[in-house]
Amino acid sequence: MPRTVSNVGYWTVAGSALAHNVTILSDAPVNQEITSLLWWVLVFSIVIFGVVAGALAYTIWKFRAQPGDDELPPQVHGNDRMEIVWTAIPLLIVMVLFVLTAQTLVKIKQPIKGALPIEATGWQFWWDFQYPNEGLRTAGELVIPVGQPVEVKITSGDVIHSFWPPSLTGKADAVPGENNYLRFMATKAGNYYGYCAELCGASHANMRFRIIALDREDYDRFIGAYRAYEAPPPATEQADRGRQLFNAQCAACHTVKGTPARGVIGPDLSLFGLRLTLGSGVWENTPENLKRWIHDSAAMKPGSRMPAFPQLTDADLEALSAYLYSLKLDGFDFAQLPRY
Ligand code: CUA
Repeated sequence: MPRTVSNVGYWTVAGSALAHNVTILSDAPVNQEITSLLWWVLVFSIVIFGVVAGALAYTIWKFRAQPGDDELPPQVHGNDRMEIVWTAIPLLIVMVLFVLTAQTLVKIKQPIKGALPIEATGWQFWWDFQYPNEGLRTAGELVIPVGQPVEVKITSGDVIHSFWPPSLTGKADAVPGENNYLRFMATKAGNYYGYCAELCGASHANMRFRIIALDREDYDRFIGAYRAYEAPPPATEQADRGRQLFNAQCAACHTVKGTPARGVIGPDLSLFGLRLTLGSGVWENTPENLKRWIHDSAAMKPGSRMPAFPQLTDADLEALSAYLYSLKLDGFDFAQLPRY
């Protein structure tokens, strides 16, 4: 479904939370500290609300005006004991929450043994994902295994962004020249929605991503297949023409594994045929959308850094699309995964 720029991130999150049954409290046995901290804060908030609202309601009821009661009630000026009590109790609550929060912050900063390292770099307006150990690089869609913690090292190549997959974990800012870490784990296979959560320019609301969580065997098969993968030779004349066009027009910015295309300015397109979305999680990856995207990406996503290619004919675009959709690993279809 086409989406407009005015579609602000938070509403999208609320919408997708309703539509996809987002679990607000992650049930993964990783960073449980955050979940229990959230429960503590929730319990305190409910108790405080109950006491304050209850006392207010009681007072309003108890001291309401009676018929014929026109006199001012006795006026009270100051009560040292009460003032001490209502200063001390909130202070105590804040101190308890502070200690709990500080403990949690220290704990979640600890690296997790056996976590899968991934590097995420935010750019206006897409996410670049690199797997230092696997040599894999993807854009907009991050593939992770179920049941293994991942450690995402987050940074930015231009302005400040924020990496946020709400069904899996909290958010972390992507700051140029700095690394922030998010550690989390998916407990079930699925297609998890992610958002940029820091205003970063014209297409901030269009800077989304997906986390594709695969069951262990599928993930291992995926990585194995990727390691052995080289872009398959074009099966049709059209795809072959597409490859030539790609290598002439697109290779300066994009990489396709096993071909002369080695550009790193734009997304790595080695597995483009597996992608569910275009334009970093915004548009469905259909031939129709792909052709529009290549023709003039900024018309679909304001502020897109990819130049327009008005000179390409419809036949050129068809050829490019035939080539790009041939770039995939056999036996994988992420469209079947449940969405969260
Ligand atoms: Cu990137 Cu908002």
